[in-house]
Amino acid sequence: MCGIVGYIGQKKAYPILIKGLKRLEYRGYDSAGVAMIDTKGGLNVYKAKGKVADLEAFCEDKDISGNAGIAHTRWATHGEPNSANAHPHYSASGRLALIHNGIIENYATIKENLVARGIQFKSVTDTEVLVQLIEHIMVSNDLDLLEAVQVALHQVIGAYAIAILDREHPDTIICARQSSPLVVGLGEDGDFYLASDASPIAEYTDKVVYLNDGDIAVMRLGEKLKVVNLDNETQHPKVKQIDVTLGQLEKGGYPFFMLKEIFEQPNCLRDCMRGRINVEGDRITLSAVIDFREKLAGARRIIIVACGTSWHAGLIGKQLFESLCRIPVEVEYASEFRYREPVIFPDDVVIAISQSGETADTLAAIELARQAGAFVFGVCNAIGASIPRQTQTGVYIHVGPEIGVASTKAFTGQVTVLSMLALCLANERRTIPGDVYKEMVAELTRIPEKMEEALKTNEQIERLAPIFTYAKNCLYLGRGYNYPVALEGALKLKEISYIHAEGYPAAEMKHGPIALIDSEMPVFVIATRDKLYEKVISNIQEVRARGGRVTALVTAGDEQIRRLADHVIELPDTLECFQPLIASIPLQLLAYHIAVCKGKDVDRPRNLAKSVTVE
Ligand code: AGP
Ligand code: GLU
Repeated sequence: MCGIVGYIGQKKAYPILIKGLKRLEYRGYDSAGVAMIDTKGGLNVYKAKGKVADLEAFCEDKDISGNAGIAHTRWATHGEPNSANAHPHYSASGRLALIHNGIIENYATIKENLVARGIQFKSVTDTEVLVQLIEHIMVSNDLDLLEAVQVALHQVIGAYAIAILDREHPDTIICARQSSPLVVGLGEDGDFYLASDASPIAEYTDKVVYLNDGDIAVMRLGEKLKVVNLDNETQHPKVKQIDVTLGQLEKGGYPFFMLKEIFEQPNCLRDCMRGRINVEGDRITLSAVIDFREKLAGARRIIIVACGTSWHAGLIGKQLFESLCRIPVEVEYASEFRYREPVIFPDDVVIAISQSGETADTLAAIELARQAGAFVFGVCNAIGASIPRQTQTGVYIHVGPEIGVASTKAFTGQVTVLSMLALCLANERRTIPGDVYKEMVAELTRIPEKMEEALKTNEQIERLAPIFTYAKNCLYLGRGYNYPVALEGALKLKEISYIHAEGYPAAEMKHGPIALIDSEMPVFVIATRDKLYEKVISNIQEVRARGGRVTALVTAGDEQIRRLADHVIELPDTLECFQPLIASIPLQLLAYHIAVCKGKDVDRPRNLAKSVTVE
């Protein structure tokens, strides 16, 4: 959600900023802008509604020189997406330009005070209030920019990652973070890069500093990076090495990142299991379980907190932990959990699942759990993100950067990590026999190969997709482990094709949604061979009896459902608990091809953001 990029050094800043914004496009945004200090010392702001390409077109005939600049993609929270509200925002005198990701919650009160002092505003954003406040403090108290930022941020309530350019000090960019991500890159020639995540920085340097909440960084040419807090105490953040390769950020010949990421899944899961499952394929070792064995294996209860797709992975985790480890599990939407008064015990283990590691609601849920004394475990993809830094321990899913807004490989990576964790804990707790444990681990290592098999359904699904583009509503049904798969399938379709879709436990359909079924309503049923197979067949019959059109995902060779359903998609067999890893694939492909048929921008669906850093 929203992207920040900055550069100061010897190179031309504009191309670096634009390229960086494009790398962050996956996060979702509605307008873009850039502020540059030109070679004559002028501070210029250029902004446009729409895509980064629109900003480029707007800047085409302008003379954009200079070696220092900040740039932004905005995802509007306060004020409609137009060029006046787009960032950067100037201060009243035009001396400062500021970009911001997040929300200033007390902006209205601050604005009232500033307006009373005669300051005029050009936008309706919460962000402009901040830049006006900083300049007002600087001028009225005769402070330098850093001091003014410190005073201003003491007055601000909310979430922010900000970067500021000052016309009077063209050799410096100042930035700060509180609850929104910000990474500083240290270039070889003493130049500095700045971004919301490491992807715009990766091609220039592998040395980065992840700022912490409360940090203010001063990037001044000819000096080392200086990091202080709001009270001007020096901070000593570690310089980290990043290992994102550029190839991982490119589309690799696929028309969309989403399709690339769907096809990457077999290898992603191999990466996820590498070094964790031994070469014999019969034992899982997770360092988090070694380090915190008693805490984790002794958990009286597990509470999973997550949002969206990660929440669906959590629902699968619940079934795994309950059936394999016999630990009771609750799965909570982080956004609800944080505002309830949940009962949390010190011997509860809270598992936070998040691809980005920056989801504001999930971070707040973690904070609440920590305050209640629970042990917090993170399952995250983005290395060095806030969630892994704010949890006691955890497991990275290691599936590489996910660029498509609709999550695919992160979902199967999360389910794989939860499967490994559940098997590990079940083995520690002796809740499954040793030979069953070994067989299950061995089957998990075979999943990537079976996913490759499942990906062969791509052409069949591409041919089927046009049939469903007319649909206004779709129903996804599944039971047991396949119920969260139904929810996830429906979410994928909604997100990228804008067709309304609902996931339901198949047997629950008769308690309401059955009223919706007619010949216009495509129904997708996950009906692989498991212990509820016969029951799901009855549910298919119920849909058929009402004229519904059934597309069923079945285990290869299933003749019975072939006779009942309009279309069948055959999948390789596996253990019931790993079926979601296979069955999700055709549903991801289905959503993808339907959206492509409808001409939608699959990687950047409307209104959505990749990294939801506001609540
Ligand atoms: C996934 O397709 C969605 N775009 C969304 O539901 C996402 O899963 C959710 O916002 C949680 O994100 P996170 O995993 O980065 O915390
Ligand atoms: N709240 C700010 C605005 O609406 C920033 C939103 C963002 O993070 O892009 O302008």
